[in-house]
Amino acid sequence: MSGGTEPGGAAVPGGGYGLRGAAFSAAARELAENVAAAWRTGLDALLRGDYDGYGDRYGEEADRADYGGHGGDGHGSGDSSGGGTGSVDGSGHGGGERPVRQLREPAWGPEPAAMLAAAPDPPAAGAPSATPPAPRRPLPAGGPTTVDAEVRGAFTPVLPDAGLGAPALEALLGYLPDHTVRPAHPHTVGHLHCPPDPVAVAADQLVAALNPSQDSWDQAAATAVIESCVLEEFGALAFGAPGAGSVTSGGTESNHLALLLARDRALARRFEVDPAQSGIPAAAAGRLRILSSAVAHFSLARAAAQLGLGEQAVVPVPVDDGHRLDPAELARAADRIAERGETLAAVVATAGSTDAGAIDPLADCARVARAHGAWFHVDAAYGGGLLLSDVRRPLLDGIGQADSASVDLHKFGWQPIPAGLLLIRDPHGLDAIARSVAYLSDLDDEEAGYPNLLARSLRTTRRADAVKILAACRHHGRDGYTAMIESCFAQAAHAAAAIEAHPALELALRPALTTVLFRYRAEHGDPDRVNAVLRRRLLATGTAVLGRTRLPGAGGRPGGPGSLRLKLTLLRPQTTPADLDALLALVADAGAECDVPGS
Ligand SMILES: Cc1ncc(COP(=O)(O)O)c(C=O)c1O
Repeated sequence: MSGGTEPGGAAVPGGGYGLRGAAFSAAARELAENVAAAWRTGLDALLRGDYDGYGDRYGEEADRADYGGHGGDGHGSGDSSGGGTGSVDGSGHGGGERPVRQLREPAWGPEPAAMLAAAPDPPAAGAPSATPPAPRRPLPAGGPTTVDAEVRGAFTPVLPDAGLGAPALEALLGYLPDHTVRPAHPHTVGHLHCPPDPVAVAADQLVAALNPSQDSWDQAAATAVIESCVLEEFGALAFGAPGAGSVTSGGTESNHLALLLARDRALARRFEVDPAQSGIPAAAAGRLRILSSAVAHFSLARAAAQLGLGEQAVVPVPVDDGHRLDPAELARAADRIAERGETLAAVVATAGSTDAGAIDPLADCARVARAHGAWFHVDAAYGGGLLLSDVRRPLLDGIGQADSASVDLHKFGWQPIPAGLLLIRDPHGLDAIARSVAYLSDLDDEEAGYPNLLARSLRTTRRADAVKILAACRHHGRDGYTAMIESCFAQAAHAAAAIEAHPALELALRPALTTVLFRYRAEHGDPDRVNAVLRRRLLATGTAVLGRTRLPGAGGRPGGPGSLRLKLTLLRPQTTPADLDALLALVADAGAECDVPGS
C-alpha cells in the first residue's frame, strides 16, 4: 500500500488525495483479486448449475442424453472427434443424415435428479428462514415476501454512514448465488433467459475490468473494431453481405431503432421531411401504419408510442393455428391502408414468437412490404440464434430480404445479458442517427481516420458487449452452435411427446422452436386457476420456474377464459430427457395438489 497526501498536505495510507485505504487503492485491488480467486470455484458451480462438480464435458452429458424414445433427434453418442452420429430429422442416429458434431466442453449442467434429491425441504412459505434456502434449487424458496424481507434485512442501508469494507462484497458473494433465479438449472424454463456461456462470462469480466466505452474511439480502440467485425459477420449471415448495425441492450431497443428508421424513411418519401430536424408533420399525424402479427412482441407497440405514432399505428394481422402471420391477411391489410390514403411505414415479421416460437412466412412478408414501399423488419430476437446453426438456418429463409433484423444472443445464443444486435442491410442505414459532437468525434478527427462511433447507437456511453460475442463465437464455431441448438430442438421434441403421452397433461401445439406450451388437465377446479396456482406453488417452493401465457383468441388477441397455458423455454443444451421427465412429474404432482373443487 503506497502513501498519499491529504489535500491539507498530510500523508495518508492508501495513496491518493485523502482516500483512506479504500476505493481504488492497492488494498481494493487486492480485494478484487482475492474475490476473483475465491469466486472461481463458485462461478464454476454457477455456470454448471450444480455444486459438486458433476460432469465437466458436453460429451459426457451428451452420452447420457437419449432423445430417441420420443422421436427427438439426438445429438450423437460417440467420441468427440467430430464424426458425430446425431441426426436432425427426428430419426435418431440413422445413417445418411448430415452429422452434427458432438457437444463438448465445457459443461454447464448438473444431474438434476441427484440435485433435487439432495435438496433439503424448503422453509415454510412466507417465513423468513433462519438458514439460507438450499443451494441446489432453481430459485429461492419462500416467494417474493421472504426474499424482500431477507434482502432488505441483509443489505440495507445501501449507503451506510461508515463504509463496511470487504465484508460488504463478501456478503453478496455468499448470498446472491443461492437467492437469485438460476438460468443454468434444468428446471428454470420460464423465459427466453438462457444459461450464460462460460466463455462469454469470462470475456465479460475482462470487459468490466477494462471498461471501454463504445461511444468514441479514444475510449475503445480495439473493442470498437471488434464491434465492427461482429456486426459485419452477423450482417453477412443474415443478408449475405455486411451492412450496418448496432449492438443493443436487446430486442426492445433493436425494434425501437428499426421502427425509427422505418418511420423516418416513410416520412421522407411520402411527406418530404426530415423528422430528425423538423419532427412529424401535421399531415402525417395518425396516418402511418405498421403491420405485424397479432402475437408480435409488445415492444413494437411501445416503440410506436414513443416514436410519436401512437400504439394504434401498429395494426395486428391475424395468425394461423401455428401462431404464424397469415400472408393473405397481411396483403389485404396493406391494401386497406393504401385505400384509406394512409402510409404503410413498416411490415414486421416475427421469427420466433415469444410464446410459440412461430416463424412468420418471411418471403411473403417481404413481398407485401416491397409492393407498398414499406420497410421490412424481422423481429428475430428469439429465432435469430438459428443464424448460428448450419442445420436450422433455412428456417429463416427470407430474412435476407429484410431491411433490418433484431437478433438477441442473450436469448438463443447463451450470452450474458445484454447481447442484442440490430442488423441493417444498407451499409449506410444508420447514417441518419450519426452526430458530430465536439467532445466525442469532431469532423477533423473523422477526416484523420478516427471513426465516429455515434453512428452506431442511440445510446452514448456503451459497454463493449461485442467482445463476449466474439469470444464465444470463436470458441464454439458454427459446428459447436449447431450441436447446442440441435440439443435444444431435441429437448422440445422430447418434452412435447412426453406431455402428449402423460394422462394429466395436455399439449397446446407442436413446438416450432424450443418452447413448449401445455397445461395440466384440471378435473375439479377452473383450469386457468389451477395452472396459475400450480406454477406459483413451484415458484414459492423453489422447485421450478415455468413460464405462463395465454393462447391467442379470436383475431389473435389474447385469449379469454381457458386460454392460460404453461410454457417450457428450453435453452439449456445439456438438459437430458431425464431432467425433462422429472420436471413434468413435478408439474403433474403440483397440479394434482392444486386441483381441488372450488379452486
Ligand atoms: C420476439 C421478441 N421480440 C423482442 C423481445 C424483447 O427483447 P428484450 O427483452 O431483449 O428487450 C422479446 C423478448 O422476449 C421477444 O420475444
